[in-house]
Amino acid sequence: MLQISESKSIFQREELYSYEQFSETLSIRKKTTGALLAKTMFTWLSGQISSIPVQISTLAERVNVVKSQEKLFTALLLSLKEEGYLHEEAGFVKKTSFDEIKLDKLVNDLGRKGLATYGKGDWLTNTYGPFFELAQSCIPKLPEVLRGEMSGVQLLFSPDNYSRTMATYTNHVPEVYYGLIAEQIVDKCHKIWALRPEHKIRILEIGAGSGYGTIRMLEGLQEHSDKVHFCFTDIGNSFLRRAKRTFKQFDCELEFRLLDISKDSTEQGFAKESFDIVFATNVLHATPDLRVTVGNVRDLLAPEGSVYINEIATESITNTVTYGTTSGWWLSTDGLRIPYTPVASTTTFRNLLAEIGFKDIEVFGYPGIPESELPQAIIQGVKKSIHHE
Ligand SMILES: C[S@@+](CC[C@H](N)C(=O)[O-])C[C@H]1O[C@@H](n2cnc3c(N)ncnc32)[C@H](O)[C@@H]1O
Repeated sequence: MLQISESKSIFQREELYSYEQFSETLSIRKKTTGALLAKTMFTWLSGQISSIPVQISTLAERVNVVKSQEKLFTALLLSLKEEGYLHEEAGFVKKTSFDEIKLDKLVNDLGRKGLATYGKGDWLTNTYGPFFELAQSCIPKLPEVLRGEMSGVQLLFSPDNYSRTMATYTNHVPEVYYGLIAEQIVDKCHKIWALRPEHKIRILEIGAGSGYGTIRMLEGLQEHSDKVHFCFTDIGNSFLRRAKRTFKQFDCELEFRLLDISKDSTEQGFAKESFDIVFATNVLHATPDLRVTVGNVRDLLAPEGSVYINEIATESITNTVTYGTTSGWWLSTDGLRIPYTPVASTTTFRNLLAEIGFKDIEVFGYPGIPESELPQAIIQGVKKSIHHE
């Protein structure tokens, strides 16, 4: 259950790590996950995959991959290509000449290194540990998921994995981003009040889910709660019911409503241009068409209103073997994502926001990491008023 904590700046609460430390973490995690995945996939596909090229679709058919998991299957094979275990050309794959005996050793060594690191409780613990544990637990189950014998949700939220999955939402990196986006929005509110002291700021959160992003925002605005209207929305009703209980102690005007941001919001009872600030954390990637989604966000915002999008910004093998098992991961139809991922790059988001009618577009992220390497990014924009269009 979500705990409401004392409000403090993210930079007071969290020790920040250097670019080198961050890169090292990601690189170990990628290598480990690749080795574990290779072990599982080659055991499962033994006899079906060799040094003779085979078409991915033929391979999928031979090992009974269900239609709904074909994208995941291809994505996993492409991850093995990236890690040097497969050659792939025009949809055909064959094994590289990697040494299977060495793979066993690599799995053991990296596994030990990962667990040792996780056990140590040092700076890597929070970034490396939860993802490593979840990936390690999910990878052996991938053949079952691909054959349709188990769903991604059953896998991620099984009694064994529930706390591991939750830990990936609340470890150091997400915490920093929840803190960053909250601080930016609170700062924005103060700028609005500096010009219009009595204005009641209308804030909409999309896909608020379990409320990890909401809490920081409400904490930051608590002192000015009489001047805030906060609309907590999600596509799922169960999240709204839970949020009503969790957030009842906050004094601001709070509203809990269903909203599917991939669809026209006026047809869901929302008035056009009725919010000053709209934000979404790890939601928009799960919608089929980002042009439509971002257009729906624009329609909800008043002219000069601000959007803040906190999103995954680079592809990751760890995400593919974990969250990639769910159907929501593969909904995209817009051609805007990094192939075989739901991820749109920060450049794509910058271009898209400009195309859809936003200005003053900026990208923020973990301090010290170049924009193109940010695993997660906050993309911010201001809706152009009609005069400027
Ligand atoms: C990964 S969770 C993120 C939840 C929360 N924002 C956080 O950061 O903890 C994604 C959330 O988006 C919601 N969601 C998925 N598709 C959506 C859509 N089309 N419109 C609105 N919400 C959606 C899900 O129900 C879920 O709560």
